[in-house]
Amino acid sequence: MSFGPARPLEQLYATRSSIKWRRYPADVLPVFVAEMDFDVEPSILDRVAETLRHSDTGYLDSAGPLAPAFVAFAREEWGWDVDPEWVHLATDVTVGVVEALRLAIPAVGGHVVLTPPVYPPFFEMVHEADAVPVTVPLLEDEGWSLDLPGIEAAFAAGADALLLCNPHNPTGRCHSRTVLEELAALAARYGVFVVSDEVHAPLAHPGTVFTPFAPIARAAGAPSVTVTSASKAWNLAGLKCAVIIAADERSAALLTELPEELAARTSILGLHANLAALSCRPWRDDLVELLVANVALLEAELAIHAPAVRLVKPDAGYLAWLDFRGTDLGDDPARVLIDEGRVALNSGLPFGEPGRGFARINLACNPETVVEAVQRIAAGLRSANHRVSPLPL
Ligand SMILES: Cc1ncc(COP(=O)(O)O)c(C=O)c1O
Repeated sequence: MSFGPARPLEQLYATRSSIKWRRYPADVLPVFVAEMDFDVEPSILDRVAETLRHSDTGYLDSAGPLAPAFVAFAREEWGWDVDPEWVHLATDVTVGVVEALRLAIPAVGGHVVLTPPVYPPFFEMVHEADAVPVTVPLLEDEGWSLDLPGIEAAFAAGADALLLCNPHNPTGRCHSRTVLEELAALAARYGVFVVSDEVHAPLAHPGTVFTPFAPIARAAGAPSVTVTSASKAWNLAGLKCAVIIAADERSAALLTELPEELAARTSILGLHANLAALSCRPWRDDLVELLVANVALLEAELAIHAPAVRLVKPDAGYLAWLDFRGTDLGDDPARVLIDEGRVALNSGLPFGEPGRGFARINLACNPETVVEAVQRIAAGLRSANHRVSPLPL
C-alpha cells in the first residue's frame, strides 16, 4: 500500500491523544518520543477494523498465526531461520525484555550489563527485574560500537545478563557481524544470557546490513532471546503486541516457563496489526526511503543553520543522536531548547552518563518538519547565546 505524507501538524494536534501531541503546548514542535507522524498503513487499519467488526476482542493464549508470519519475515528479511515453536507473545517489547530477564537471572540482585547511551527504559526494565544495571559505555571514538574489553570485564566480574540494543537506540547503529560474533563468544565463555532488543531492525537503511543476534548466539553456544515487534517500524506501539524468540534449545526451554498470563495480557488487535504489518513491506520500504532523505536533509540544514551541532548518522530507524557539546547549551540542551526554541527533542541525560550534552531527534515526519525543527534549534542557540554572552563594553 502506498505511503503518503503526514497530515498537517494542526490536524495531528487536533486528532491525536498520544504523548507526542499532549506533553507540550501546541507552539512547541514535538520531535521527541519515538512515534511517527504518518497515518497507519491502510491494510493494517483494515485488518484491525475487521477484527473489531467480528467482535474478535477476547484473549490470546499463544502467538498463533503470528509465529509462522514472523518466521517467514525473519527468513526473507535477514536469512534467520526461526523455529515457530520458539516464538512467544509479550504485551510489548518492554514487558518481553523484563519477563525474559526474570527467567534468566537470580530472582533478586542479578547484574545486567547495559551499554549507554541507551534507550532510557532499559534502566527501568533492569530494576523491574529486581536486578542491578552494570554500565559499559559505547566507544564514541570507534563509531559508538560496543566496548568488548569492557563487556568482558563486566562478564568476568559476574554479570548475569546483557541487554543488547540492535539497532542501537539512540545512535541508530547496526552492530557489525564481527562485533556480534565476539560478543556471542564472550557470552558463551562466561555463561551470560543476552536479551537482544531488535525492534528497530525492520528500518535498516539501504547500504546497511542488519545482523540478528540469535543465529550468531546459537552458533557460538551462547544463551539468548530476541524481543521485537512491528510497534516501531509500523507505528503500532499503542496496540500492545510483541514477540520473544528463543535463539537456542536451552533458551527455548527457559521460555516455556514464561507466565501463562503473558499471552492473555497481549492485545488481540495488536496481534492482527502485527500480522498485517509483516506483509506490507512496500509501505515500509517507502518509509525508509523518506527517513534516509530526512537524515540527509537534517545534516544539510544543520550545516547551514546550526553548524556547531553534530549529527551522529544512523544506520537504521528514524531517531538521530545530536551532539551539542560544541554549543553553549550545557549538559541538557533539550531542556534549554524547549524554552528558547519552542522545539521538543529528547534530553540526552536519561540515556545515561554519555548522554550529557546530547539530545535525540525524531525524523518520522514530513521534511518540512525537519526544516522547521532545525530553524527552531538555530533560534534556540542564538537566544541562549545572547544570554551567556557578556555585555559589550
Ligand atoms: C530500543 C527500544 N525498545 C523498545 C521500545 C518500546 O517498544 P514497545 O512499545 O513495544 O515496548 C522502543 C521504543 O522506542 C525502543 O526504542
